[in-house]
Amino acid sequence: MEQNIMIERLSISSKEEIIDLNQITLRSFNLSDLDDLMVWHTDEKVAKFWGEPYTSKDQGINFIKNMAGKYLRCKAICHNDHAIGCIKLSSSSLYDKSRNRCAEIGYVLASKYWGKGIATCAVKQMVKVAFSEFQSLERLQALVDMDNVGSQKVLEKVGFQKEGLLRKYVFFKGKSRDMIMFSLLFTDLQL
Ligand SMILES: CC(C)(COP(=O)(O)OP(=O)(O)OC[C@H]1O[C@@H](n2cnc3c(N)ncnc32)[C@H](O)[C@@H]1OP(=O)(O)O)[C@@H](O)C(=O)NCCC(=O)NCCS
Repeated sequence: MEQNIMIERLSISSKEEIIDLNQITLRSFNLSDLDDLMVWHTDEKVAKFWGEPYTSKDQGINFIKNMAGKYLRCKAICHNDHAIGCIKLSSSSLYDKSRNRCAEIGYVLASKYWGKGIATCAVKQMVKVAFSEFQSLERLQALVDMDNVGSQKVLEKVGFQKEGLLRKYVFFKGKSRDMIMFSLLFTDLQL
């Protein structure tokens, strides 16, 4: 039985690198994470659904220095304490934390680490952080491009519900995109 659990927690990549999902943790960013952060922020594959790739390290430095004022939480997704991605919570009532009823979750992972269950593991951890640290939070939501199948699967595996399709909702990279709204309510976790 114990052996079966161990096997479930291990994921073997195409290059046979073994990732132990027990080693996936979330922590605050430091400026020393800059080089790691630039790996995913300059990757065209990552940028497809994430944003324009960075063209200078200054953009990375600004991101790390200013994140506290922009997000409720912004954490490095770490493997053995090495930053391999980022997960964040944002809210329109950022400056009145006692009134946060709804927050949006977003996440990104360096492409070398895709397909190993890491994002699913990180989102599960952030869900716990969100509902335990923000007592008034009732709803977590995520807006995902209809073509971003990987991200939709991550949310479904964590327990988010697909609420509906928002047609031509976001203008991104030269075209209006159909987006899918997902949500997870605090009460969903009580069932
Ligand atoms: C989306 C993203 C975070 C997924 O990370 P990940 O660690 O590869 O996801 P997981 O390994 O936890 O995958 C969860 C499920 O999705 C599947 N999946 C992952 N990427 C997929 C893809 N491109 N196409 C189809 N399925 C995919 C996995 O196989 C897994 O399903 P399974 O357990 O049935 O095998 C990652 O691809 C990424 O960083 N993309 C760029 C940024 C981005 O799109 N962020 C989300 C914006 S809403």
